[in-house]
Amino acid sequence: MCYLVHLALCGCWGIEPGTHILLLLLYGVGGCPPKCFCHPSAKWVDCSGQGLAEVPPDLPPQTLMLFLQDNRIHWLPALAFRTTPLLTTLNLSNNSLSSLTPESFYGLRHLRVLNLTQNSLPSLESSLAHTLPQLRELHLSYNNLRRLPTSLGQPWENLTVFAVQQNQLLHLERALLESMPSVRLVLLRDNLWRCDCHLLRLKLWLERFIFEGGVTDGVICGSPDLWKGQDLLSIPYELYQPCPLPSSSLTSLHGQQPGSAQREVAESPENHSGQQEPLDCENKPKPRPVNLRHALATVVITGVVCGIVCLMMLAAAIYGCTYAAITAQCHRGSLEPTTEPGKTKGKDLLDRPAA
Ligand SMILES: *[C@@H]1O[C@H](CO)[C@@H](O)[C@H](O)[C@H]1NC(C)=O
Ligand SMILES: *[C@@H]1O[C@H](CO)[C@@H](O)[C@H](O)[C@H]1NC(C)=O
Ligand SMILES: *[C@@H]1O[C@H](CO)[C@@H](O)[C@H](O)[C@H]1NC(C)=O
Ligand SMILES: *[C@@H]1O[C@H](CO)[C@@H](O)[C@H](O)[C@H]1NC(C)=O
Ligand SMILES: *[C@@H]1O[C@H](CO)[C@@H](O)[C@H](O)[C@H]1NC(C)=O
Repeated sequence: MCYLVHLALCGCWGIEPGTHILLLLLYGVGGCPPKCFCHPSAKWVDCSGQGLAEVPPDLPPQTLMLFLQDNRIHWLPALAFRTTPLLTTLNLSNNSLSSLTPESFYGLRHLRVLNLTQNSLPSLESSLAHTLPQLRELHLSYNNLRRLPTSLGQPWENLTVFAVQQNQLLHLERALLESMPSVRLVLLRDNLWRCDCHLLRLKLWLERFIFEGGVTDGVICGSPDLWKGQDLLSIPYELYQPCPLPSSSLTSLHGQQPGSAQREVAESPENHSGQQEPLDCENKPKPRPVNLRHALATVVITGVVCGIVCLMMLAAAIYGCTYAAITAQCHRGSLEPTTEPGKTKGKDLLDRPAA
């Protein structure tokens, strides 16, 4: 919590000197919109909980923080915040936004905190990163997000907080998180996470992220039934199959051998579902990885058995040598006293027939 407050506070006062002159010129031109409370010296405007259906026009241009939460705003036109280009914090949480175009935020080059929690947003456009280059915190929890961009065109350099709790997400591409090189807090809980081969990459990313000091609230699997309710991080890698090759390359490979049995085996069980939904990888046949795995296992087992046999032979050799050495020593020790009786016995034996 302190972390968030600290970020918000630090983020709010770093504006360039050039813009101050502009502020002084414009200061006093825009009054305070009705239904809003404007705090001129602190440069924040609070229009929260006023039943507003749109962003009020004529906001004071020097505004740094704008609170629009707890309203009924369902749509943002292009350039919705053109009168307040210095905004660093924009709170739109608990509104009715069901779509969002990056054009709405054009001109907000300084925005650092954007709170869109508790709206009805179905998706996020990757170009938002380009529109809001300075953004540090993006809050998208409690929306209807079903998909996120697979990656951003460019790195979102300064983004440190990315929150998408309580949405409908099934997958999250590792490439998206990789385009946020500064991210330190990732909130992912309460989604429909489908813990299949695709989430394996997310698991690997998260492990490294946590190792490097990042904070996350975890990914709890929603499906398949086998993993339902389990934390992605607690599922061992060995239980994942690697993602199969894209279905197009598989079918073209099999297409080179028309009428072969392989082709029928590969295509009939899935009923072309692989081509319709490339993300669905659980029910695909996985002959190659299994064969590879078997081959690997065989090599490993052979190696282990050979090793054990070698060790046993070595042990036997050492045992044999020591035994031989000890018996040799005993023999030498016992030879001296036995020579006399041996000789006498021999003499006796020799003497007896003679006698
Ligand atoms: C959301 O805003 C409405 C008013 O539009 C308010 O009655 C409600 O308490 C707010 N919900 C939360 C969780 O703040
Ligand atoms: C945004 O609004 C919510 C709900 O009123 C509030 O809890 C939160 O502190 C606000 N965030 C910022 C950065 O102003
Ligand atoms: C965003 O708004 C939600 C409530 O709508 C609030 O719980 C949360 O603390 C806010 N986040 C930030 C960083 O202001
Ligand atoms: C990221 O933040 C640093 C320090 O505040 C700033 O110099 C840099 O321009 C920012 N990056 C982008 C892409 O805005
Ligand atoms: C296979 O797909 C066809 C349509 O492409 C559909 O009618 C049929 O029910 C499917 N069969 C199975 C087993 O899914």
